Amino acid sequence: MENKIKTLEDKLAQAYLGGGEKRIAKQHEKKKLTARERVNYLMDEGSFEEIGALVTHRTTDFGMQKEVYYGDGVITGYGTINGRPVYVFAQDFTVFGGALSETHAEKICKVMDMALKAGVPMIGLNDSGGARIQEGVRSLGGYADIFYRNVQASGVIPQISAIMGPCAGGAVYSPAMTDFTMMVEGSSYMFVTGPNVVKTVTNEEVTSEELGGASTHSTKSGVAHITSSNDVECLEDVKRLLSYLPQSNKEVTIKVPFELGNEIREQLTSIIPDNANKPYDMHDVIQGVIDEDSFYEIHKNYAENIIVGFARIGGRSVGVVANQPMFLAGCLDVNSSIKAARFTRFCDAFNIPLLVLVDVPGFLPGTDQEWNGIIVHGAKLLYALSEATVPKVTVITRKAYGGAYDVMNSKHIGADFNFAWPSAEIAVMGAKGASEIIFKKEIAEADDHEAKLLEKEAEYAEKFANPYSAAQRGFIDEVILPQDTRRKLLKAFSILEHKTVDTPKRKHGNIPL
Ligand code: COA
Repeated sequence: MENKIKTLEDKLAQAYLGGGEKRIAKQHEKKKLTARERVNYLMDEGSFEEIGALVTHRTTDFGMQKEVYYGDGVITGYGTINGRPVYVFAQDFTVFGGALSETHAEKICKVMDMALKAGVPMIGLNDSGGARIQEGVRSLGGYADIFYRNVQASGVIPQISAIMGPCAGGAVYSPAMTDFTMMVEGSSYMFVTGPNVVKTVTNEEVTSEELGGASTHSTKSGVAHITSSNDVECLEDVKRLLSYLPQSNKEVTIKVPFELGNEIREQLTSIIPDNANKPYDMHDVIQGVIDEDSFYEIHKNYAENIIVGFARIGGRSVGVVANQPMFLAGCLDVNSSIKAARFTRFCDAFNIPLLVLVDVPGFLPGTDQEWNGIIVHGAKLLYALSEATVPKVTVITRKAYGGAYDVMNSKHIGADFNFAWPSAEIAVMGAKGASEIIFKKEIAEADDHEAKLLEKEAEYAEKFANPYSAAQRGFIDEVILPQDTRRKLLKAFSILEHKTVDTPKRKHGNIPL
């Protein structure tokens, strides 16, 4: 028996070494942790159980039978993060650059299947040179097997991808189909085709970092939801994100301990400037209504005219969607609509209530927006919020103009509570624009056009630049004092905790893609 135990120990020791000391040192030189170090850091101490540590590839082409490593370039298994079970895979760059072989893919598929059956989150730590070139189409088949499982698991268990090294070609499509993509700044990149192919095809000179680094994907493309400055921070971000999510769509998020105190927030009364055209930071409103230090922003530097993120109200997770007057006056445009729609659908799929804070002057005008399909993209947000059956609460802080009023979780599309501050202006458009249209003739005929316009503007503002017309019709449930907002939200989300909605039977809706 002793010999047999020794054999097992030797094999496992070899597996734990991955591609060997030299390649581990190279990984460290790049300021990257190894796959095993990452898994150990991510999981609660001693909780990780590895599956498939002794798997090896089956390739004999190109002399591959002489290059065999236990684990075949990916560590797979399960463990706990802050006491909650999760499945994980971590690609090991020290073995064939983490390249994906048939067996490497089989290992990932196995844990994906297990996570889905167990109803627990699936976390992927990506660091790979792509398809294992020596295996050809078998490797491509492996990718597709993973993609298929990503789709089966979508909306059932949370799927999180951390990109901690290269992720190129077909490899990008698995993270893209998971719920959240995180990237490490400086050491990760994602692209469909690399700089060399780009140069050949389009003659553009671009570096890997410019083409698909963390900064590019968190500001220009929106592919990355969160970026972190190094591996450790990235793994901490995975843990933080997970803390807001339930285990699966069958569960609700864990309520963190919360005790009711003085919930009046006087600072909220002085946020809205007297001049309706002056911006203010919607983050201040968010901070004033949520539990202290609970905001975790997603897509922070992308489409900044809308803010999305997780927070807690009364210890419960909520998804926040909020117009940001600091950017493009808080207008909805193509990117912000897509950003908010995807976030809304995630929250709805995973039973996370939605808080929508509104200060929106409308959709962004212009050929750029129209030619890029603002009609269909704006419709995504309208569709997503209409479709969501989780508790939905709206607070209008200032402008709610035009079609954007309808889109931003209005009563008409199924919001449960619609609150407005006294500063709210719920109208078809701003008073100036409205007066120029409906009083065009009167203004033209007046001796002093400017004075007449101002007079009519004031008349229109008096009638519509307030929340009362909407409140009279019940489109607003209550006009509330800003300082009372948090207290109202605590009660609203509490009474909605067991909300249920029956939806018509159908295969799936047809969101305008
Ligand atoms: N298939 C098989 N082996 C691969 C591989 C792949 N797709 N990508 C990298 N490797 C191997 C390398 O041969 C090298 O092996 P070694 O340790 O035995 O020398 C090891 O992984 C590390 O690669 P290296 O090129 O030295 O690392 P790097 O940090 O300088 O570059 C990449 C990383 C990913 C940019 C580079 O390896 C690369 O371009 N790989 C190919 C990407 C690709 O075209 N993939 C297929 C299409 S998806």
